[in-house]
Amino acid sequence: MKFWFPVIAYFIGAIPTAYVIVKILKGIDIRTVGSGNVGATNAGRVLGFKGFLVVFIIDMLKGFIPVYLAKSYFGDSIFLYLVAFAAIIGHIFTVFLNFKGGKGVATGVGVYIALTPINVFYVFLVFMITVGLFKMVSLGSIVSVITLTVLVWINEQSLYLKVFTLALALFIIIKHRENIKRILNGTEKKIGEKVNL
Ligand code: G3P
Repeated sequence: MKFWFPVIAYFIGAIPTAYVIVKILKGIDIRTVGSGNVGATNAGRVLGFKGFLVVFIIDMLKGFIPVYLAKSYFGDSIFLYLVAFAAIIGHIFTVFLNFKGGKGVATGVGVYIALTPINVFYVFLVFMITVGLFKMVSLGSIVSVITLTVLVWINEQSLYLKVFTLALALFIIIKHRENIKRILNGTEKKIGEKVNL
């Protein structure tokens, strides 16, 4: 039974929420609009703030539910991080869209609410300040994963959690490499900017 956990976590993570909701509501493929990312931010560019919120919450739950359950059953063990990894990898490399999904931020938020909610609270404040100042979700995400890593290394005891967080942060920053280029050359989309359909 235990070894089904990561497999199930992968398939839960792989549900391409943004793709499904945008397809149902607008009849278009989210991969062809905006940043092309299959995530809440890009869904928001098509559907507005409510659409962003719905996709974000569902993507967040894809990380929260498996990791919350795994934590309850197995505690702080390498197996817990295998489940967390599987959920996020499912979101980023979804089997349902030829292994091209999102960037792992919303699902990662769910994972960390289950792992260390107090640090998520501090990171949320940093995210809001960054996005409030610069109006770019991608920049908020990048600053947030760096902040999370620093907080986890300072506040947490678990070496598994520390190493997992560092690796995940590097991975999520690499997933944002196109965003980083756009931020640097001033072409990154700001919040509230919709796409032309
Ligand atoms: O969570 C992804 C976000 O940080 C950036 O999304 O669509 O601007 O690439 P996007």
